[in-house]
Amino acid sequence: AGELCLTVVVLGASGDLASKKTYPALQFLFQKGFLTRNTKVIGYARSPLTDEQLHAKLRPRLEGGAAEADAFLKRCTYVAGAYDGPEGWKALAAALAAREARHPACPCGRLYYLALPPSVYPQVCSGLKTYCDALPSTEGSWIRVIVEKPFGKDLGSSEELAATLGALYPENQLYRIDHYLGKEMAQNLFVMRFANMFLAPLWNRECVSNVQITFKEDFGTQGRGGYFDTFGIIRDVVQNHLVQLLAFVAMEKPLSIHPDDIRDEKVKVLRCIKPVQEHNVVLGQYSAAGGQPGYTEDPTVPDDSRTPTFAAVTLYIDNDRWAGVPFVLKAGKALNDKKAEIRVQMRATPHYIFPGQPEATRNELVVRLQPDEAIYLKMIVKKPGLEIDTAISELDLDYSKRYPGVAIPDAYPRLILDAIRGDQQHFVRRDELRAAWAIFTPLLHAVDAGRLPLHPYPYGSRGPEEADELLARAGFVKNLDYRWHDAPAG
Ligand code: BG6
Repeated sequence: AGELCLTVVVLGASGDLASKKTYPALQFLFQKGFLTRNTKVIGYARSPLTDEQLHAKLRPRLEGGAAEADAFLKRCTYVAGAYDGPEGWKALAAALAAREARHPACPCGRLYYLALPPSVYPQVCSGLKTYCDALPSTEGSWIRVIVEKPFGKDLGSSEELAATLGALYPENQLYRIDHYLGKEMAQNLFVMRFANMFLAPLWNRECVSNVQITFKEDFGTQGRGGYFDTFGIIRDVVQNHLVQLLAFVAMEKPLSIHPDDIRDEKVKVLRCIKPVQEHNVVLGQYSAAGGQPGYTEDPTVPDDSRTPTFAAVTLYIDNDRWAGVPFVLKAGKALNDKKAEIRVQMRATPHYIFPGQPEATRNELVVRLQPDEAIYLKMIVKKPGLEIDTAISELDLDYSKRYPGVAIPDAYPRLILDAIRGDQQHFVRRDELRAAWAIFTPLLHAVDAGRLPLHPYPYGSRGPEEADELLARAGFVKNLDYRWHDAPAG
């Protein structure tokens, strides 16, 4: 058989997501030589664009000079068509068939990338299935469909969407993106946990006091409020991105690195989490400060919106390993910092014989996803000198120092490449999604009904103080004297 004849079909090609994420990710893969020579990208959307008009729209988003952009754009064509009528789909099917007929000996791969709002997923998938499902019979040919959140608004609506899509494409053809699974450090978390002997005996309720998974952004909704306001921070970030990280922190070792073995273990641990209780939640919404507008001043947000832009949520995992250990997921917009990290705080050392408070000298393992990937372990060592005195220091893996000059790829190219290779490891399986929604659905319904207090916090602050109380209740002890040598403030 010949080389794979790959066609990526970008549905919603004239939209924002396509030009910001999908096409640049494809160009990255193209430039790095990860796409076969026989690759074409067909854009599909309603706008009546010519190929040249599409290229003009994409060019400012692409890397490199004109020649590099053109080398990639030469492969990008466009088909205009509706999402609800047959003509467009038939035109797309004809374009695919014509291209594939030119390579009769090659297996054909089609990646349907839905860069579209989920409200049209059912319509689009049904159009694709009805009109664009006929593949050449060459062995090794395939069709895969990439979709991205929001997958519904709660367990019921997510299941409804999953059932509709599932009736059209089986699970092994569906690739649900959670782009946090494409992040270097999320992937490293998995390796680190299961490749190191020294972690294994400590990774449990005997030794771990609490776990914090934090996402902070130092900007507000900035005109994206229309989307954000109907979802809120729990649906936008916590239920998906932070839960995926939690699954990596808490899961048992899978049988193998086969994608389904890994996803089986993730589902198992998620199913051990009880639905969040209202007293374990702090919600906030940012208000104007320092010349920055408050959330409800965003023109795309209703003036009386009670949508949370900050949430801190404590979860408990009911299994032998983790019973009683609080996992605090914290996410907020318009805070004092921009970062995502996981902080595993150990219990205090028993029978502490050195000066100082053992409570304040707990070991912590920190995995920083962004910015500036790093892993460090806070530990107590002897202060250099003649006296026996202690200091908090760290074992430190700072990527920029340890791997200087190594460019860490973005999530999207990595995930698209996985999909082309047929590797579903870093995509969310339907039962995983269901388990994640089950944890948050009762809470979300209470939030939507306005039953939970919403604490205002100033733009650019650390978020509502109530969240610190929640953390303290979870047993987190902050060491006020210590700062990692070049950690950003906060
Ligand atoms: C998206 C959310 O999924 O993730 C955004 O919709 C958020 O609100 C973004 O800003 C964060 O992603 P990253 O990769 O910048 O951490």
